[in-house]
Parts: sequence; C-alpha cells; structure tokens
Amino acid sequence: MTPRKILVTSALPYANGDIHIGHLVGYIQADIWVRFQRMRGHTVHYVCADDTHGTPVMLRAEKEGLSPEALIARVHDEHLRDFTDFGVAFDNYHSTHTPETRAYCEDIYARLQRAGMIATRAIEQFYDPVKEMFLPDRFIKGDCPRCGAPDQYGDNCEACGAAYAPTELRNPRSAVSGATPVRRESEHYFFRLSDERAVAFLREWTRGEEAVPGATLRHLPPEAANKMQEWLGGEGENKLSDWDISRDAPYFGFEIPGAPGKYFYVWLDAPIGYLASFKNYAVRAGNIAVEDFTDAERAAAAGTEMAHFIGKDILYFHALFWPAMLKFAGYRTPSQLCVNGYLTVNGAKMSKSRGTFITARSWLDGGLDPEALRYYFASKSNGAVEDLDLSFDDMIAKVNSDLVGKFVNIASRCAGFIAKRFEGKLAAIDEAAAAPFVEAWQAGDIAAAYEARDFGRALRGVMRLADVANLYIGDKKPWELAKQDGHEAELHTVCSTALTLFRDLARYLKPVLPALTAKVEAFLDIAPLDWRGNWQALPAGHAIAPYNHLMTRIERARIDALIEANRATLAPKAEVKKMPTTTPIAPEVSFDDFAKVDLRIAKIVAADFVDGADKLLRLQLDIGEEKPRQVFAGIKSAYAPEALVGRLTVMVANLAPRKMKFGVSEGMVLAASDPDGQTPGIHLLSPDGGATPGMKVK
Ligand code: MSP
Ligand code: ZN
Repeated sequence: MTPRKILVTSALPYANGDIHIGHLVGYIQADIWVRFQRMRGHTVHYVCADDTHGTPVMLRAEKEGLSPEALIARVHDEHLRDFTDFGVAFDNYHSTHTPETRAYCEDIYARLQRAGMIATRAIEQFYDPVKEMFLPDRFIKGDCPRCGAPDQYGDNCEACGAAYAPTELRNPRSAVSGATPVRRESEHYFFRLSDERAVAFLREWTRGEEAVPGATLRHLPPEAANKMQEWLGGEGENKLSDWDISRDAPYFGFEIPGAPGKYFYVWLDAPIGYLASFKNYAVRAGNIAVEDFTDAERAAAAGTEMAHFIGKDILYFHALFWPAMLKFAGYRTPSQLCVNGYLTVNGAKMSKSRGTFITARSWLDGGLDPEALRYYFASKSNGAVEDLDLSFDDMIAKVNSDLVGKFVNIASRCAGFIAKRFEGKLAAIDEAAAAPFVEAWQAGDIAAAYEARDFGRALRGVMRLADVANLYIGDKKPWELAKQDGHEAELHTVCSTALTLFRDLARYLKPVLPALTAKVEAFLDIAPLDWRGNWQALPAGHAIAPYNHLMTRIERARIDALIEANRATLAPKAEVKKMPTTTPIAPEVSFDDFAKVDLRIAKIVAADFVDGADKLLRLQLDIGEEKPRQVFAGIKSAYAPEALVGRLTVMVANLAPRKMKFGVSEGMVLAASDPDGQTPGIHLLSPDGGATPGMKVK
C-alpha cells in the first residue's frame, strides 16, 4: 500500500483549566488512530498545543497574581504531563503564544486582506468603565429579559433557556468589577464570511470528499455535513454573517499588524496553533517539508493529509471559519474533521457536586490504570458524533472481563509451562487452531474498523478472537496435560500456539493499550508489533522472557475513592479562603533557627503498608544519597501506596533518627492538614516541575 503522509491534530485545550476525563475522550480517540496508522506503515505527525489567548486567561492570571506568560507556562507543563501519562503521545505539544503562531497569523491575515476578505466597521458593545475594558458576553451578568431570573450570563439564561444578546439583559453588571457596563462603540475587523466566494466554497467543501490510498475521507461526518447545509442555506440564499476577528486592548493575544490597540480574537489564532505546533516540530525534526502540508498547491502535489480531531461543540469554528480562512489565504484545507460527542458519567453531565467532574490527574493519583480508561472509551467509540457514557460498573465489568479475564489470562495460563518445562522455548504451533486467526488477519475487518474510527467494532472483533483462543485452551487443558505422562509434546504445542494467538491479540490491542502491549512485547521478546506483511506464527525454538504480572483487576473501592476525591477537592475550594484555619500561628523563630532545618526534595521510590500500623506507610525516599532513606509517615488514611511511588515531595533530611516499633525512621515528609479545622484530609507537598531529588528547599 502507498504510504500516507498525515498531519493529525487534536483540539487545543484552553490554558485556564485542568484536563478532565471529558477532554480525554477526543484525545484518546485521536491517539489510537495515530498509533494504528503508524503500525500500518503510514507517516503521521501528531501535534497539539495549549490555547492560551483571550480574556479568561488574562483575568485568571491577574487573579492569581501572575503574568499571563507565567500562568500559561505552568498550565502547559501540567497539561503535557496529563496527556503523556494517559499515553497520548504528541510529537509536539506547543503553545499558541509563540513566534510561529504569530508569523502564521500575520501571513494568513495579510493574504486575506489581499484577497479582499477583511472588512472593518464600528460596533457597539458593553464596556466596563471601572476595569476599562470591553466585556465578552460571559463576563456580563444580569436578570433574564424573559423570565427575570437573576444572575444570568450575557448570552443565555440557565433558568428558562432563553438566548439573547447581552445588551438585552436587565440590570446588567460586569462580572469582573461589578460596575454597571456602558455601551461604547469601537472599530472591529471582520472576516467576510458572507462574501459569495466564501459561501460558494463552503457549500462545496462541507459536503466534499477526498480519496487517499486505501480510503475515501469525508471532510465532515455526514450528520455534521447536513447541519452545515442548514446553516449555509440553499442555493441563492446567504445565511452567514461576517465573523468578528478583533478585540480591543486590554487583551492577551497578538496585536493586529497596522491596527494599534486591536488584537486577533483567540479563535482566529487557535487553529493556526495547529500549523504553528507542526512547524515548530518540523524545524527541529529537520527532514519534514513543512509546505508540503500547509501550502494548497504543494499539499495537493505531495498528496498529504490533514485530519483535525475535535469535540462537537467546536464544529462551527472548524467547519466554517477555519477552512474558509485557509482557502482564501492559499493554504491547504483540512482533509477530514473527526468529531467526538460529549462525555456523560453514569448517564448525566459531569458534575462537581456529584464528584463526577474527574480530573485526569486524580485518576492517576487514585492509582487507577490510565489504560483502563483508554480501553473503555475505545470500546464505546463508533466513529460517529455521539455522546459517550462512562458507567463505572460497566467499565469495571468490561475491563476486568475483557482484559484481565480474556486477554491476560491466556498468557498467565501458558507462560509458566514454557518456562518450567521447555527452558522458555516455543515449539511449532498447531496450524488448525490458528486458522481463524490467519483468516481474520487476511480479511482485515479489524483494520477497517480502526481506519473508520469504529474502535468499538474493532475491539468486539478482538474479543471474539480472544474467545476462540480461550476455548482452545479450555479444550486442551494444559494444566491437565502437565500432570499426565507422555503428553510433553502436546503441552508444548498447546502453550506455544496459545502464545502465538496471544501475540495476535496484543497486536490488535496495541493502538489502544500501548503500555500493556509494550510489556507483552518484552515478555514474548519480539520486535515492536506492527500491522504489515503476512501472518506468521512465533517460530519454533524462539525463547520468551519470564512472565511478569501484566494487569490487575479494577476494584470498585478505588472508583468510590476517586469520586470522593473529586467531590472533596472541588467543592470547598471557594470556602478555603473564607474559613481560615483555626490553628494559631506558632511563636516567632529567628532565621538562623529556621535555617537549621535541612529540607530536601525527595523522590518516593517505594511505599508499603506496615503490618500492625493503622496510620503509617513505610516510604523509601531518594534524596540523591547512596541508598534511600526509610521514613514512616502517618498518611495511610489519605494515600494508596501505589499512588505515591514515583512522585516527588519535600522531606526534613536532618531530623534526628527515631526508633519506632517497626524500624528506624530517618526523617520526615511534609504534608498539610487541618486537624482542628473543618477541612479533612492530609495533603502531601510536591514541588513544581523541574525540581530533582536532593535539591535543597529554602
Ligand atoms: N480551546 C478550544 C479548542 C481550540 S481548537 C483550535 C477548546 N478547548 S477546551 O479545553 O474547552 O476543549 C478541548 C477539547 O475537549 C475540545 O475538542 C472539546 O470539544 C473537548 N471536550 C471538552 N469537554 C468535553 C466533554 N465533556 N466531553 C467530550 N469532549 C469534551 O474548546
Ligand atoms: Zn430566563
């Protein structure tokens, strides 16, 4: 097959909030597709970035007493760490607040001007006279003009559902300063989406297709294409309005060339961030011809593709503004928009009060396997724009039965015999038993399902094969063959066959479960699994590595703890400030006294329960010394040992060692708690990114 050259992007998350499991739906889907295409031998560049500009980031930074640059730098690191830990492996995770984004913005804007697609006119908007800024709709509150409900946002009423313009609100006030906003006029820049050239182009493009080696790509999913036709209106009709692309200072963004005090609206530079992230990556990689992916003519000649993975709420921007901007600037337009629906949890919208607004980090901190979520989301994805429900009981059942019960079980039942009886070496396989697997490989149904992003169908196919493998093992009963004399050869064949089938299943699961399958590759001692060539059994005589435990069952208790953690951390946030701790401040100490305490960054390299202690965990702390320190910490009620291993914290390194019933404690870790107050819990300290074990804290 001719190799494809694909630029894949995921929506750029806003730099003013944590990544939560709702976000992860789309990123995991994109990552699975990318991994699959690479296994097929295609070239894929997968990029993303933080979406950093706009009023919310500006105001949030101000509130935290930070510069916007400092805020977005911190959030960038947090986001990247969350994605990485969920196996979402971008080639580059950039930012829109970068020279590359600015350069592309200026180039695209200049070309749109030359094409006659930019217009200016004065509009009237609400202005906060105290804060001296124009107010975006979301920052104006007032009484609903329809039902009178107080405290409603400037765009729609949460009580009666009415949609309106902010100027229609009764008793409007600025959510920033509380002042009564005034109407004020200012000159704005517009992208002329209502131009007949734009309308004609979009009418074609939104229902268009593109043929690539081995597939035909629709620009939009069919349900979205229909919706766009409605928005665009019929032939001769023109329902599109021009798009306001400027904002007045103060604004965190890029100033518009030749228009002092005017800034590009965040949604203009956000998708341009896709190109900027790609360019930043390509320049470093050195061997990628950037224009082959960005320039209209060169992309057509080179046959490259560009696929954007986005959520359904941002379809409008990606299906209308973005392709039109690219088109009239002479850039290549997208090959396909891959659109995910919204996540619900236990059938309802994610909710902070119910504890179902679950952050990515809390999932990991709770000791839950990120690949369990990947598997579950994949199993519920069908390539259509449909909402996806996370039901915890269903997830537990599915992960435990499919992955632990059906998949891992094959290896755990057969590996031991190979190791103990046959010096770790495989025999020739039972060809008849493998026949269904050879057929499945040749039919390519699982690959087709992955290509169509119908991961649910792909995984159902994989589990059907897993059933076939388990039936074979159940039928041959290696554990009984092992007890009978004279069945050595048969035992050897059965286990070798089962492991070849297990290898096939691992290959099919690899896009979804990269970490688990890496362990399988190590165990089978095989080259990284790909999706090419003819079907082959693991060869006779091939030696495998000792079998190590591959995956544990999910326990309901951990999910309950996760929900509790998300309820507890989010709800009282506002109260923390209002309710100062009741513990009085201790008497003053001199600096010299303070300086006697040697605080160090410590890496927790091991954490275990202590027999007979109900509050303690035994920690091993690396502070750059020859061997780790043993410290007993009273944090058992708040932390599962597995969740601690690998994380950094702060320890008192020169505390006199203390002999305890369970051994010597060689220091102390620092944690926050409020024993007399109302906020429960113990909160271990951790340093910002960049700190390393042994660093002095002062
Ligand atoms: N910054 C914009 C995207 C700019 S792309 C040039 C944005 N950011 S976001 O942080 O709000 O969302 C990032 C992605 O996550 C979007 O694709 C959005 O649709 C998706 N999701 C956010 N919440 C979601 C759910 N609850 N469920 C599924 N996807 C969700 O939009
Ligand atoms: Zn109302």
